[in-house]
Amino acid sequence: MKTIGVLGCGLMGAGIAQVSAAAGLRTIVLEVNEAVLARGLGRIEKFLATSVEKGKMTADEKARLLANLSGTTAYADLKDCDLVIEAIVENVDVKRQAYAAVEAVVGPHCLLATNTSSLCVTELAASTTRPDRFGGLHFFNPVPLMKLVEVIRALTTSDATHQALFAFAQALGKEPVTAPDRGGFIVNRLLIPYMLDAIRCLEGGLGTVEDIDTAMKLGCGHPMGPFTLTDFVGLDTTYFIANIMFEEFREARFAPPPLLKRMVLAGHLGKKSGRGFYQY
Ligand code: CAA
Ligand code: NAD
Repeated sequence: MKTIGVLGCGLMGAGIAQVSAAAGLRTIVLEVNEAVLARGLGRIEKFLATSVEKGKMTADEKARLLANLSGTTAYADLKDCDLVIEAIVENVDVKRQAYAAVEAVVGPHCLLATNTSSLCVTELAASTTRPDRFGGLHFFNPVPLMKLVEVIRALTTSDATHQALFAFAQALGKEPVTAPDRGGFIVNRLLIPYMLDAIRCLEGGLGTVEDIDTAMKLGCGHPMGPFTLTDFVGLDTTYFIANIMFEEFREARFAPPPLLKRMVLAGHLGKKSGRGFYQY
């Protein structure tokens, strides 16, 4: 694979585009408009500047990475891609429309992958004209720092596609694991009920946001408490994932708590909007 397309330059797309360009691949990241694109590319620039400051990367390495990376708002610019990774909003209909726009410009050899957290990969694959050349590449936030990638096989994913996606994750320096196409795969199957349970504990008066976070950090050695983590993931994304997993399993532990719904409706989306359980 030489040329990689990334749909979405939000929290995840920006990170995926960054690690792809860092691996020496020509990377084109697509956004809905120039303003959002500039914000996403700015996020990459900031991470790289910090990396240089911290001595993790030289200024030359940063320049080489940025030379591999370009942004666009036009699907036509993805025409030479060997792989397009979709990292846009967690919504089936929006994702399907984006795949149709990609398939109108790319060649038949091009693989499609979704970074979905919880949607049925087989359903997404089946909505394209290449269900055998479609799979899941589930990265973790923050992408440049988290080593894991879950590589998800849809029922229709061919062996060759699965192997190519697995090898791609390795080429990025990540540690891939194969995960089944079941809502939430491996990590979110365990993590999302934990995050939702913390919100239910808050609703039930178990402790303050700060005390629950401190308890889980210091008592369990977690790098972040559950509220810092939910702010970091995005309350909207957490809410979408919870609804999708509840729809899939019909188990109360996946149901979004009322407080989460209300915070999303109020626009308190976490770190990315400046306010979630904490103020930023
Ligand atoms: N640029 C360059 N390097 C950076 C950096 C930056 N902006 N920020 C941090 N780093 C480097 C640091 O230099 C450090 O490297 P060394 O260990 O070599 O010194 C390393 O990254 C860790 O950074 P820090 O120690 O400064 O920061 P930290 O201890 O606060 O760790 C963290 C940051 C890795 C994000 C940590 O807080 C963490 O692991 N949090 C949990 C994240 C998590 O659970 N993510 C999964 C979310 S769920 C998901 O993604 C799936 C889904 O579908 C919802
Ligand atoms: P985000 O809200 O930060 O970014 C989504 C971006 O997609 C936005 O910038 C938006 O403008 C863009 N977008 C929307 N529709 C588009 C389209 N049709 N074409 C191109 N761009 C479009 O969301 P995020 O947190 O980056 O999540 C993206 C995907 O990654 C979701 O499927 C989510 O479930 C998954 N995911 C999120 C996390 C996380 O921790 N936030 C972790 C793993 C996977």
